[in-house]
Amino acid sequence: MSLEVEGLEVAYGAVKALHGVSLRVEPGEIVAVIGANGAGKTTLLRAISGLLRPSAGRIRLDGQEITGWPPERIVALGVIQIPERRQLFASMSVEDNLRLGAYLRLRRGERKAVEADLERVYALFPRLKERRRQTAGTLSGGEQQMLAIGRGLMASPRILLLDEPSLGLAPLLVQELFRIIADLRRQGLTLLLVEQNARQALRTADRAYVMETGRVVREGPAAALLEDPAIQAAYLGGAPTSLPAPHPSEVASYARPTRAAASGDAAVGEHGDGRDHAGR
Ligand SMILES: Nc1ncnc2c1ncn2[C@@H]1O[C@H](COP(=O)(O)OP(=O)(O)OP(=O)(O)O)[C@@H](O)[C@H]1O
Ligand SMILES: [Mg+2]
Repeated sequence: MSLEVEGLEVAYGAVKALHGVSLRVEPGEIVAVIGANGAGKTTLLRAISGLLRPSAGRIRLDGQEITGWPPERIVALGVIQIPERRQLFASMSVEDNLRLGAYLRLRRGERKAVEADLERVYALFPRLKERRRQTAGTLSGGEQQMLAIGRGLMASPRILLLDEPSLGLAPLLVQELFRIIADLRRQGLTLLLVEQNARQALRTADRAYVMETGRVVREGPAAALLEDPAIQAAYLGGAPTSLPAPHPSEVASYARPTRAAASGDAAVGEHGDGRDHAGR
């Protein structure tokens, strides 16, 4: 499924959060959106999902304009957002949470296809299968994140909008998660991936957009952005991710002592994940 966003503006009351954001995602692509806290990434995804109404701009899916449509209609087209906070049903079992992800399909009578997808999700996340009778609220944080993604897949998405899927995951699980994201793309899914883990996101994505304070400030092939010194300084180890990304000219004042050495040789990231392990 293709997605086109053009000149999107979203405001919370009097405060504008998006100032004319444009981006596109081609069918079968992984497109990453990176940017500091508060840049507007979640706002962008929520506007695409219909959860926020833009004050200007257009959103098109496969060429059809959906701007201003209610979220149910957008979900029914196959646009599935995995929210930043996992929003699972804590007192329900893993399996019931997964089935709930397919409720629209079950209502349409797609029972067999839903059962097949349940097995597919369990194959992707064996840990969820082991724990399918456990209540979601007692899963570890990483397991809950897998469940949130699994639940999104149960909706049979045509484009998956992922908001910070790696947040709070241990390094090994982060690697696993990005492998799964790449697998999903190989199976034909289109993905829009919002990430603070810019290095992993850029390694996994085909193309990427960089957002700053409600605007797209850079875009290009992910591999090119990964090699770009300004991007490296601002997003790939030059500054702690909990601070707003500094303007490149201010980077020196935020820099850790190792930055100069690390940016010259980007083999080891701030998460200690050597480039070799990711294979790209
Ligand atoms: N419900 C809201 N009411 C008012 N302002 C909001 C609301 N939600 C977000 N904002 C503001 O809009 C801006 C963009 O927020 P958004 O959540 O989209 O950023 P983000 O890029 O997803 O950040 P993070 O990386 O921290 O998740 C921020 O300044 C934020 O404070
Ligand atoms: Mg966010």
